[in-house]
Amino acid sequence: MTQSIRARYEAAHDEGRPLIGGHRGNPAENPENTMRSFRSAIAAGCDLIECDVHLSSDGRLVVIHDHTLDRTTNGRGLVRDFTAAELRKLDAGEGEQIPLLQEVIELALGKVGLVIEIKQVPPLYQGLEDKLMNMLRQLGAVPECAIVSFNHTAIHQLRKMEPSLQLGILEGARPMHPAKMLREAGADVYSPHWGATDPQLVQEVHGAGGAVAVWPVDDENAVAWCKYCKPDSVFSNRPKEVGPALRN
Ligand code: G3P
Ligand code: CA
Repeated sequence: MTQSIRARYEAAHDEGRPLIGGHRGNPAENPENTMRSFRSAIAAGCDLIECDVHLSSDGRLVVIHDHTLDRTTNGRGLVRDFTAAELRKLDAGEGEQIPLLQEVIELALGKVGLVIEIKQVPPLYQGLEDKLMNMLRQLGAVPECAIVSFNHTAIHQLRKMEPSLQLGILEGARPMHPAKMLREAGADVYSPHWGATDPQLVQEVHGAGGAVAVWPVDDENAVAWCKYCKPDSVFSNRPKEVGPALRN
């Protein structure tokens, strides 16, 4: 069923449950950030899938977590130094390719909400935001996607480009005024590490009209803390186990 990502958040809120997101797909059972991992997360019943995006040397949006190839592929060096065609020849684990973002969007449309993390942390990618917006618009994917980043300035820039897009700011620490940060960036979703979350934070963000999305919720402690704090969405590397644990 086609549903906007905003509608997914509203429906889950009305039902009193968090949305479950497959963080890098379902990497507990598949190579992370691969088509197989995303398909597996969708089959596991995730409401959302999350992926990480970089730019190739020829300006294509590609899906991989690190700035370098070394950890997750059989390549070496920086992602930005290779063309998309060169990157596609690499093994991203168990014979999987590095996906193009377009493939992941096309997989997600009509099935799950897609959360796209832009890796706009140094070394920065010039023009990434423009390319991403053009792609989302061309594919009619704006309502079903969210863009998130640790680079809050990039999120602010995207807000000026597209008022209707769901945007999220990532944060590793517990700031004094999360709602102020959310407002300043023009974002809808405040997205902290689960350990940097508490009920007061959730209340403050809700009071400002925002939603809270936590990551990476992978063990019993994190699940218990989420049940206590009640964020709006939870991203896990083990969505098959964590999803049912949080829904019950
Ligand atoms: O969803 C946010 C989270 O993915 C940020 O951390 O390093 O896993 O991309 P990272
Ligand atoms: Ca990420």
